[in-house]
Amino acid sequence: RKLQRRGEDNFVNFIRKIIALKMKVTYLGHSCFLIFFNGKKLLIDPFITGNELAKNIDISSIKCDFILITHGHQDHLLDAELIANNNNATIISNYEIVSWFQTKGLNGHGMNHGGKFNFDFGTVKFVSAIHSSVLPDGSYGGNSGGFVVYGNNKSFYHAGDTALTYDMKLIPKLCPKLDFAILPIGDNFTMGVDEALMASNFIKCKKIIGCHFNTFPPIKINVSSAVKKFSFDKKKLIIPRIGSSLDL
Ligand code: NI
Ligand code: MN
Repeated sequence: RKLQRRGEDNFVNFIRKIIALKMKVTYLGHSCFLIFFNGKKLLIDPFITGNELAKNIDISSIKCDFILITHGHQDHLLDAELIANNNNATIISNYEIVSWFQTKGLNGHGMNHGGKFNFDFGTVKFVSAIHSSVLPDGSYGGNSGGFVVYGNNKSFYHAGDTALTYDMKLIPKLCPKLDFAILPIGDNFTMGVDEALMASNFIKCKKIIGCHFNTFPPIKINVSSAVKKFSFDKKKLIIPRIGSSLDL
C-alpha cells in the first residue's frame, strides 16, 4: 500500500514536472508580462492601452486567472480593472491596492512585504521595492513591492519599479533558485542598466528580462549597449519584442 502510494506520488510529481516545464512568458510592453505558470495564467502590471508601443495588443483577447500588481501607479495597473472583469480574475497586490479594487467589485488577495502565500499555481512572496505607490485617484496605495513566484521547480522574480536595494540579497536566501528575473532598466524612475546588473548578482540570477524602458522619453535607453554590458559579465539580458513569447 505504502509502495503503491509512493508510486502514485512519483507519477504525480512526474506530471507536475512536465506541466512546470512550460513557463511561457509573453511580453505586453513596459512592465507587463503574461506568464503561464503551473497551469495558470498570471498577468503582471497591465499597462497596455496607454502604451503607444503596445498599440497592436488587443486587451479584450487577454486571458488570465490572476493579475499581480506591484504598486499603485497608472503605468502598472491602467488596464487591470477591465481585464479582471473580462476574466473574473483575482488581483494579487499589497493590501491597500487590493482593497481599492475590491471597492470596485473585483476579487483580490491582499499581501504585505515579507509575506508569502500558497496559491493553487504556486507560492507568491511579496518582496521589498524602493519606490512610491499612490493610486490614480490619489488614494493611498500602500508601499511598492515585487513578486517572487515559485513552485514545482520553477521560480521567477518580477521586481516592479525599484531602486537597487540590498534587500534583494535576501531573495536567494529565502526563495528557490530563480530561473529568470524581470528587472527595470530604464533609469530615472527606477534603477538603470548598471544597477540591474548589480541586482542580478544580488539575486544570483544570470537570466534577466529587461522592462520599464523606452515607453516614455525619460526612460529611453540604448538597448544594444545594455545587452553588451550583461554579456561582458557573462549574463544574459533578454529584450523581448512586444507581443512575443519565450519559453523559459
Ligand atoms: Ni511606478
Ligand atoms: Mn512605473
